[in-house]
Amino acid sequence: MADGIRFFELNTGAKIPSMGFGTWQADPGIVGEVVTTAIKVGYRHIDCAKLYGHEKEIGSALKKLFTDGVVKREDLWITSKLWCTDYEPEDVAKALDKTLQDLQLDYLDLYLIHWPVSMKKGSVGFKPENFTQADIPSTWKAMEVFYDSGKARAIGVSNFSSKKLGDLLEIARVPPAVNQVECHPSWQQPKLHAFCKSEGVHLSGHSPFGSPGTWEIVREVLKNPIVNMVAERLGKTPAQVALRWGLQMGHSVLPKSTNEARIKENFGVFDWSIPEDLFAKFSEIEQASSLALFLLFERLIKGTGYFVHETLGAYKTLEELWDGDL
Ligand code: A2P
Repeated sequence: MADGIRFFELNTGAKIPSMGFGTWQADPGIVGEVVTTAIKVGYRHIDCAKLYGHEKEIGSALKKLFTDGVVKREDLWITSKLWCTDYEPEDVAKALDKTLQDLQLDYLDLYLIHWPVSMKKGSVGFKPENFTQADIPSTWKAMEVFYDSGKARAIGVSNFSSKKLGDLLEIARVPPAVNQVECHPSWQQPKLHAFCKSEGVHLSGHSPFGSPGTWEIVREVLKNPIVNMVAERLGKTPAQVALRWGLQMGHSVLPKSTNEARIKENFGVFDWSIPEDLFAKFSEIEQASSLALFLLFERLIKGTGYFVHETLGAYKTLEELWDGDL
């Protein structure tokens, strides 16, 4: 029987809408419009970040939606992320205040540390020499203050390996509620999934289609034969099957689209489910991360890695960054 899976409960007791709307790579100039479309379609969870460079535009769109009575603030879930330049405790508060000001909100539902690396003060641009290992415990203490004050109703991390998440759990007074990572049928992250589950940390999956078209080498989640076979059997699209797989795994999913028909298509995953026999087929899918490996590894080979670099980055090897989760 179909199971809606509209929400997942976090370790704070809050209910995060399982279907989030991804805004990474939605261009400034159209992001406000597509967020408006998504909310009118029914999305109640918007995934933002300072890095994406368009929180002001999203803030204006939200304000209009509230003023026009389309949706109430309390019915939305807004996530944002602290960027790597702002990890020094004295910068963390300024960064959250700026995000709140840009989004024209009093509080966030979720605030995440974007990556387990920091950028050196005053450095500009994505160059390996600008990245350094982050002092996560001190940044986390500052995040906990937001949780205490209610400015962020939940706090968490993004792109953390099981080990880095485990290290944080050991020192955290307020345990992270969420780890947002790349997750899709071609990058299922079984080790991290199991660890998050055992620790009560919700796994939220960004790039649920493997971000097709973003990188030179594309891992074609939507062209995967098993995803397509299941889609055909169920009369659904490959994108819907990839998203529904995530929901049935217990992950929230964050598809990005700037196309109204696809925004609607991606939301159509609540009144049906993948039956057990077909769901089991997903374990046969060959695993290949698109984003994490490509961004960090392929570029490493070319000597232009951002976070991972033989001599200059925050981590010397991929193993140091992902701690065996690969
Ligand atoms: P578009 O914005 O033109 O719809 P991810 O969420 O994994 O990062 O993937 C985003 C990419 O997937 C975008 O290029 C987006 O293009 C495309 N996309 C989003 N929804 C669908 C869909 N239902 N079918 C095919 N491609 C999609």
